[in-house]
Amino acid sequence: MAVARTFPTDSTVQDSTARDNASDYNWHPWSTRRALRCISCQKTYPLRAVIYRCSDCGDLLDVVYPRPSVDPERLKRRWLRRRASTNPIDLSGVWRFRELLPFYDSLEQIVTYPEGNTPLLDAPRSAAYAGVRRLRVKHLGFNPTGSFKDYGMVAGVTQARILGMRAVACASTGNTSASMAAYAARAGLASIVLVPEGGVSFAKLAQSLDYGALTLQVRGDFDVAQALLQQIAPDLGIYILNSINPFRLEGQKSVMIELLEQCGWIAPDRIVVPGGNLGNSGSYGKALRELNDLGLLSKRPRITIVQAHGAAPLYDAFSSGHSESLVRVHARTLATAIKIGSPVSWKKARRAVHWSDGWVTSVDEQDIADAKAIIGSDGIGCEPASATTLGAVRRLAHEGTDERINPDEDVVAILTGNVLKDPDYTLRYHSSELYEEFRTESVITGKANPLKSNFANPPVVIDATAEALIAAIKERLSI
Ligand code: F0G
Repeated sequence: MAVARTFPTDSTVQDSTARDNASDYNWHPWSTRRALRCISCQKTYPLRAVIYRCSDCGDLLDVVYPRPSVDPERLKRRWLRRRASTNPIDLSGVWRFRELLPFYDSLEQIVTYPEGNTPLLDAPRSAAYAGVRRLRVKHLGFNPTGSFKDYGMVAGVTQARILGMRAVACASTGNTSASMAAYAARAGLASIVLVPEGGVSFAKLAQSLDYGALTLQVRGDFDVAQALLQQIAPDLGIYILNSINPFRLEGQKSVMIELLEQCGWIAPDRIVVPGGNLGNSGSYGKALRELNDLGLLSKRPRITIVQAHGAAPLYDAFSSGHSESLVRVHARTLATAIKIGSPVSWKKARRAVHWSDGWVTSVDEQDIADAKAIIGSDGIGCEPASATTLGAVRRLAHEGTDERINPDEDVVAILTGNVLKDPDYTLRYHSSELYEEFRTESVITGKANPLKSNFANPPVVIDATAEALIAAIKERLSI
């Protein structure tokens, strides 16, 4: 195990329908017609059904299509050509790849900001810190609302519009809600956001307020809010845009297509991605499965999911050798974006890991905090949840007790959120005051025992004189 667990888990078994994992290895991506298809029993439903789970077995649904008939080499050229178009749909980093998400009937139905087209950046200081020769980061925080959620939300809101829904809703740790609020506003839909009270960064909360969402701060955690929403949504006729909605995940597939295009269609050895509700990693698995079938994947990049140590139910399942069921945990982490103990899309994530011969690991709070500062020192920056990736690369390159990252591997880390998403965390780290202040029942790092700010770059208060400035600069910098 990369990291020994220290937090007790609640012993509720979330899903004991212990199905054979074998289907994770040999599932078929296509279908004879467009439909929703259960990932377990394969039952299909009409594409326009408002449904989030299989009515027979209760499992998650995929959106499936007939295999695209266009020659893959032509597809690659067409996708690239669209970047030079003036049509916003062509410019979108999601709809540019629309041959792989053809659930709309006409281009007029499509919503776009536009989104995507996020950079792939070299991160040399991060690579040196992790002990690998080269590390690239794909920064999804460069999206219109500052997180990866926009890739999926644009597809979810498009489907909401096609269905004629008037209101959309989500439970969120802050990024889904910010994204949904913005896209709903753009599409003229009402939006309802459920966030855990006191459990969301102010920057994210501020976004959903500003974008006009009805923002309900639930006195409970994310898992409670998510369950409540699934209970009330059908009666109120509101459309759920959490990642249980398979159309969200269709949009998120574009991250992989875009990444491969940026890599000149030479697939990296490994893709490291943070895991919370586990929709994102699941969507990457579906994308790679489809691309592989089209002959567009030079090799299977190993999807490596990282959870925060205090919110790591998938890691627990894998490390105990029992990935056929998931035991929910009482989530604890300062990386509030991934503070989730009962992830809805875990079976899709498991499928992605199995199919790609990937891995699941976890990192502790100190790993996350230091890794975030290092990514910042590369001039890149990200929110805490995203920094789990660098923490994991470092651990896996150094420890090698479970899975080892070879220093020569071509690794891409997925940064999911912008550095401005959680300024409070960043300031506290650099001021050596990073601890959780409130709610004794969820304290992971109390005031008496703050995290170490090993790479702190604290602000310096100084007299307003030239001498003081010169002295301070000379003391700190060798220029
Ligand atoms: N990174 C960030 C910045 C996130 O906001 C999330 C999830 C994740 C990683 C994990 O992605 O859930 O697909 O495994 N945030 C959700 C939200 C839950 O409500 O904003 P996942």
